[in-house]
Amino acid sequence: MNPSIEQALALLAAGELVAIPTETVYGLAADAANPQAVAKIFAAKGRPSDHPIIVHIAGSAQIDDWAIDVPEAARKLAAAFWPGPLTLILKRQAHVSDSVTGGQDTVGLRAPAHPLTHELLLRFGGGLAAPSANKFGHVSPTTAEHVRHEFGPEVSLVLDGGPCLVGVESTIVSLVSEQPLLLRPGGVPRAAIEAILGQPLEHHQKSDTAKIRTSGLLDSHYAPHTLLVTGSLLQLVDAADQYQTQGKRVGLILFGGIPASIPAAAKIVMPCDPDAYARELYATLRQLDMADLDVLLLECPPTTPEWLAVNDRLMRAAHSRLSH
Ligand code: TXA
Ligand code: MG
Repeated sequence: MNPSIEQALALLAAGELVAIPTETVYGLAADAANPQAVAKIFAAKGRPSDHPIIVHIAGSAQIDDWAIDVPEAARKLAAAFWPGPLTLILKRQAHVSDSVTGGQDTVGLRAPAHPLTHELLLRFGGGLAAPSANKFGHVSPTTAEHVRHEFGPEVSLVLDGGPCLVGVESTIVSLVSEQPLLLRPGGVPRAAIEAILGQPLEHHQKSDTAKIRTSGLLDSHYAPHTLLVTGSLLQLVDAADQYQTQGKRVGLILFGGIPASIPAAAKIVMPCDPDAYARELYATLRQLDMADLDVLLLECPPTTPEWLAVNDRLMRAAHSRLSH
């Protein structure tokens, strides 16, 4: 057995935090049954304490340990997409701690697909409460190095599972009322979920209208420290010109294969494929955040359905939008 899994199990049993790899992003995990351990997650992240945390489990066999009144739709979705990037919001079991649910009567459950974390969960037996392993509001980590950079010695063990293959967070679907709701687009495409459910998903987009507290629905989230502005290529050409006239250092994040000949201090061309784009997005934002730039100008990708998760994260990461 992997010695770092042994070490992780010992730390978790002692009520300590462990950073874990998942196929979406790295998580900051604690024993979900230990409220003192879960409290350490909130302290480390600087996250408001009424925000619920996803409970990670090994698979469908554990759903009923955490949820009650589990609808058939939830079983079908779990059978289709677990282990994988899908979180199900269900009615919670009475024992699930308020520190995990944010005091709500629901619980978020997900079985992550990363082999290291899957093995850890099988050995652990219980559930691991784990939000993304970043400070509240900041860009999520997609490598072990990102987590170390974010937390330093505050987190004693980061299980290194290599770079995350999906790169954006799980899709969150609520099944607590008659109408299934898409609370956050993510790694599993909306259409794939609708195909299994045999009905459309209603998409909740605005935190101010939603009763449900989902921090990914806050307007500023997943954001780099450097000012991030999104727009069309033409708008960015103008903006780059204006910023550079003011002596500002501009970083460009362009869409598609051909690097435009706009002068800039740094330039990155993103992939045209939505899955590859998602995989690189957070690492690119972090890389440019460390490049001593005054502003990041990002060319918007297409708005077709396969770009839903990427556009959702860009909308929340951007400090200002020139279009869309
Ligand atoms: O891919 C992911 O989901 C990653 C990895 C680590 O699994 N986790 C993640 O966690 O993105 P976090 O905490 O950064 O985002 C989870 C979202 C939050 O917006 C939280 O409010 C929402 O899930 N959530 C958790 N439990 C919920 C519940 N019972 N009702 C509504 N929203 C919930
Ligand atoms: Mg997060």
